[in-house]
Amino acid sequence: MKTPNVPKVTTHVLNEMKVRGKKISMLTSYDYSMARIVDCAGIDVILVGDSASNVMAGHKTTLPVTLNEMIYHASSVTRGSERALVVVDLPFGTYQGNSRKALESAIRIMKESSADAVKLEGGGEIIESVIRILSAGIPVMGHLGLTPQSIHKFGTYRVRATEPEEAKKIIADAQLLADTGCFALVLEKIPAKLAEKITKSIKIPVIGIGAGNKVDGQVLVIHDMLGINQDFSPRFLRRYHNLHEEIKMAVEKYIRDVKNVDFPNENEQY
Ligand code: KIV
Repeated sequence: MKTPNVPKVTTHVLNEMKVRGKKISMLTSYDYSMARIVDCAGIDVILVGDSASNVMAGHKTTLPVTLNEMIYHASSVTRGSERALVVVDLPFGTYQGNSRKALESAIRIMKESSADAVKLEGGGEIIESVIRILSAGIPVMGHLGLTPQSIHKFGTYRVRATEPEEAKKIIADAQLLADTGCFALVLEKIPAKLAEKITKSIKIPVIGIGAGNKVDGQVLVIHDMLGINQDFSPRFLRRYHNLHEEIKMAVEKYIRDVKNVDFPNENEQY
């Protein structure tokens, strides 16, 4: 059921939440039906993550998902959400090393999906792209720490910035993204103490995933937190359901009913 006249969450609202110490909730969605449920539940931000590449398309990494595919997912999500701010990941290869291409990619997302903002992975190395996208009036969310589009550089999904040098770079990148005008920042899989330090030192909201609870909000991939996806169990993940098992049991029951000619019954036919 759609809720009438719900006030829309904006980047300004998120900033106010940080100032007032109110935590921000964020989850991914990739389709209309899930977005409707998540939005009705009152989530603040829906991320159309490039994790679609993993959980929707079955790829091993986030690299293969295309701009057209992200626009398809994002436009389905915006049709299903009224209240939440909808942020869309710019996929790998659409913004790195070419700020004009970055702007074109971001404009396509905003025009063709009616999203509210875009998210880019990286700091200093992509700052020209961030500046150019911001110059067109498109809100940008940053993403530092474990940035899955760089998995081939990292070689592992282990926790990032445990060494002082990488921690220093993340602190500097976070400040740079905030000073440049990003409206919020995702910190993924870094030590909780480092995330806390960054959260206190920058003015924009910091949303953590595997970054402890001293940040301004939390994000999870919905397939992971609902237990649809069973083969991903990092320490930071809390499972709120075991939907894999529940859906499997329902499908097994349906198969039994069909085979036993128990479905459809007299009331389920014309
Ligand atoms: O793609 C994604 O789902 C993300 C979150 C894990 C932050 O970037």
